[in-house]
Amino acid sequence: MSGLILGIETSCDDTGAAVVSEDLEIVSNVVARQLEVHARYGGIVPEIASRVHVSEVMPTVARALAEAGVRGEDLAALAVTRGPGLIGSLLVGVSAAKALALAWDRPLVGVNHLEGHLASASLGAETVAYPCLVLLVSGGHTLLAEVAAPGAYRVLGATRDDSVGEAYDKVARLLGLGFPGGPVIDRLALQGTDRLGFPRPMLHEGLDFSFSGLKSAVVNLVRREAELPVEDVAASFAAAVMDVLLAKLDRALQRPGFRSLAVVGGVAASPILRQRLEEIRQRRGIQVCLPPIALATDNAAMIAAAAWPQLRRDGANALDFGADAGLTLPEAGPTPGGAAPAPGAR
Ligand code: KG4
Ligand code: ZN
Repeated sequence: MSGLILGIETSCDDTGAAVVSEDLEIVSNVVARQLEVHARYGGIVPEIASRVHVSEVMPTVARALAEAGVRGEDLAALAVTRGPGLIGSLLVGVSAAKALALAWDRPLVGVNHLEGHLASASLGAETVAYPCLVLLVSGGHTLLAEVAAPGAYRVLGATRDDSVGEAYDKVARLLGLGFPGGPVIDRLALQGTDRLGFPRPMLHEGLDFSFSGLKSAVVNLVRREAELPVEDVAASFAAAVMDVLLAKLDRALQRPGFRSLAVVGGVAASPILRQRLEEIRQRRGIQVCLPPIALATDNAAMIAAAAWPQLRRDGANALDFGADAGLTLPEAGPTPGGAAPAPGAR
């Protein structure tokens, strides 16, 4: 069989392998989560994450291939996350992918994890129309980017401190709700009231974000008033986060030319965020592209999906590429206006 890419994702704590066709049909998608292993520490322990990847990566790949009914030798290519992420975790996936590419004599594509999240919007119900405004809200990142076409990005704004996911996880830890914080805070928030008046940091300022002040406001209030209902803390925190995200989206969408809005990353699984995005869709009449909920958090299907246009455009990578923990979104390429951005331009 040809026309299938095997994606491998090990950038953080989840071991993922998936087989995706050229028209972005997900033929198999396996994610081995490490949640219980890290839960007792209240966050991800990098050393443990990489050790678990070592034992999980080959069985996860084998399952993805078996479920897809394809042999490694028959793949069109392999794809692997090469960064950003935890260096030990990334190295496990990159080493495994190189070994398999050599053994099966198949081309290998090294994929930027952030581009993987962006590609997850193409796996949802809507077809992404370009130029597209992308909001990436994950555990590691919070950024707004203009995407002229896959591979042509311009970052418009980013967080100056914590990411949204990080703020969720830290607040959840403070409230003794375990890890990861997003799903449990959202569930409680739906039962509470936004009445605690938390700050909306940088609401009226540009396209950058800041969430550490909000997190501190929650910490200080909860320490002062121990009897506060946790549902109201969750609802007030989530409302503050969403107000900021929506205000930035509204501001960015004032720029002309966007044909769609994509919201991706773990926090895009949030039902509260999805509800608020419906407001913006109706108010602005813009097409809103979201990954299926299960593909908002880290997975390998999005890595394989991002690899397809990369393979067509740039071909495979030579096998001497390395893992890069600090990889950023490539900012080369034409903008919707046709002019290349100045180096380092925001
Ligand atoms: O994209 P992701 O799986 O990993 C990174 O690349 O960072 O994102 C993980 C983040 C965590 O911080 C988690 O708390 C958050 O996504 N998250 C959510 C939800 N599900 C996961 N945040 C809000 N609501 C959710 N339902
Ligand atoms: Zn991610």
